[in-house]
Amino acid sequence: MAPLPEHVLIRPLGSADIDQVVRLESYTLPSNERAGREKMRYRLHAAPELCSGMFVRVPTKKGRCSKRDGPRSPRSRSSDSSASNTSTASSSSKKLIAFVVATKCAGEYLTDDALAIPDIDRIGYRKPNEVNEQRGHVETGNTIAIDSICVDPEYQGMKLGTTLLRDFVQRMSTQSVAGRVALLARDDMVPFYENLGFYDAGPSNVKFGGGGWHNLWMSLEDGEIDD
Ligand SMILES: CC(C)(COP(=O)(O)OP(=O)(O)OC[C@H]1O[C@@H](n2cnc3c(N)ncnc32)[C@H](O)[C@@H]1OP(=O)(O)O)[C@@H](O)C(=O)NCCC(=O)NCCS
Repeated sequence: MAPLPEHVLIRPLGSADIDQVVRLESYTLPSNERAGREKMRYRLHAAPELCSGMFVRVPTKKGRCSKRDGPRSPRSRSSDSSASNTSTASSSSKKLIAFVVATKCAGEYLTDDALAIPDIDRIGYRKPNEVNEQRGHVETGNTIAIDSICVDPEYQGMKLGTTLLRDFVQRMSTQSVAGRVALLARDDMVPFYENLGFYDAGPSNVKFGGGGWHNLWMSLEDGEIDD
């Protein structure tokens, strides 16, 4: 397996990472397959624990990593411990090179409703009606719906997508977040996901991006993730 780039870090994504996520999506996916800023903002806000990013440290002009990225003294750690745990602090000097963004859905596979944003009332609550209950992130859902996975073209083919997805599935399995993971894939991508242990359940009804998707899924309850 190709070695990971130096200084790679994987961590959950949050609302503060929105600019990097949107930018990476914009030069990785064709325009009809992008979620765009509004949906990404919703997903990062609704389910940050289901979103994962891979970062590399950006070298300074002198070709060295920023001093801020080096080991912290106990003093600096205690003085900004809350900031260092937030996305804002750690994303400022690191470049996002890959991400997985997911939400939970009520059914077994992704639907156009699962990929939509729910109607929200003036104080931020989901408007209660049957259709709206199925839209976007459904906290009680038993399926983690991977809405998108992207690797910076400069870093593609280095097994980063494989590494990030394995890490994601392992974490979701350990944390018992849901019983299964599902995603949508084009024909040519099905083998990539099958190699990771996903099953192809056949054509999806989803119209997003012009349709033509396969439903892929994996149980999180079997306790085994393929190497
Ligand atoms: C698809 C993607 C996430 C894969 O990440 P990656 O880091 O480049 O992939 P890896 O290096 O882990 O590749 C693992 C295997 O999948 C294969 N693979 C990767 N991308 C592929 C593609 N687009 N089509 C077919 N096979 C692909 C690789 O050839 C490799 O096979 P090998 O083990 O036989 O060499 C990344 O290429 C990407 O972001 N593509 C554009 C966005 C996209 O298509 N996202 C997925 C939407 S379903």
